[in-house]
Order: sequence, then structure tokens, then C-alpha cells
Amino acid sequence: MGLPQPAFYIFKCEQSSPPGMPKPSCVGPDTQDLFQHLAQTLMQKGIIGTVQPIRSACLNRCNAGPVMLVEPGHTMYTGLNKDKISRIIDEHIIGGKPVDEYIIPEELWDDAITPSEMMKQMGR
Ligand code: FES
Repeated sequence: MGLPQPAFYIFKCEQSSPPGMPKPSCVGPDTQDLFQHLAQTLMQKGIIGTVQPIRSACLNRCNAGPVMLVEPGHTMYTGLNKDKISRIIDEHIIGGKPVDEYIIPEELWDDAITPSEMMKQMGR
């Protein structure tokens, strides 16, 4: 048997807007330890071997920050704090049921356009 691949990757946006830029962004004075909370909680539960947290650059939904993306599933969570991250780990990552109330609204996260469709739209 080979080395098992992770069951989940969790991309936590770790970018912060420069001073003077519109808020919110994903890392600020009150939200700078969210990645640490994510990683520590996965460690405490003993599942960090199969759930890989990743510090990500901007995920292009800054207005809804702090955000993180759970893969597989393309599930984007917004407006995060420590309690919400803990609940997502318990209910989605362990329990298998995404936490609907923290998921980004559809007007900000509609169906993806495939790369080939996008090339067609651009006439390439
Ligand atoms: S700064 Fe996090 S999504 Fe842009």
C-alpha cells in the first residue's frame, strides 16, 4: 500500500490589505492567529496527517474575509473566527457535512467557468 494522500486540503488566506486599502482583509490585528488555531485544532484532534492546512495568498474574495477554501469540494468559508473554524472542523472535516451558514453566498461564488470555455469566450 502506498503513502495515503490527504483527505482534505484547507487553504487559509494569509494575506492582509496594506494600510489604507479597503477592509476587511484576511489577516488583521484580531485575526492574525486563525491559521495557528486551524493547525493546532487539527493537531489536537490527531487528524493533521490527513487534513493539510496551507497558508495561502489572496483567494480573490477579500471583501468576505477572513476566508478559507476546503478542497475537495470548492467550499469557500467567509467571515471566519476561531469558533467558526472549530465548528467547520467538527461538522465538515470530521462529520462530512459542510456548515452552510458560513459558506460564501452564490453571488460571490457562482459555478466555475472551465478553462476551455473561457478561451472560447475570449475568442482564442
Ligand atoms: S486577502 Fe484574503 S481573499 Fe484576498
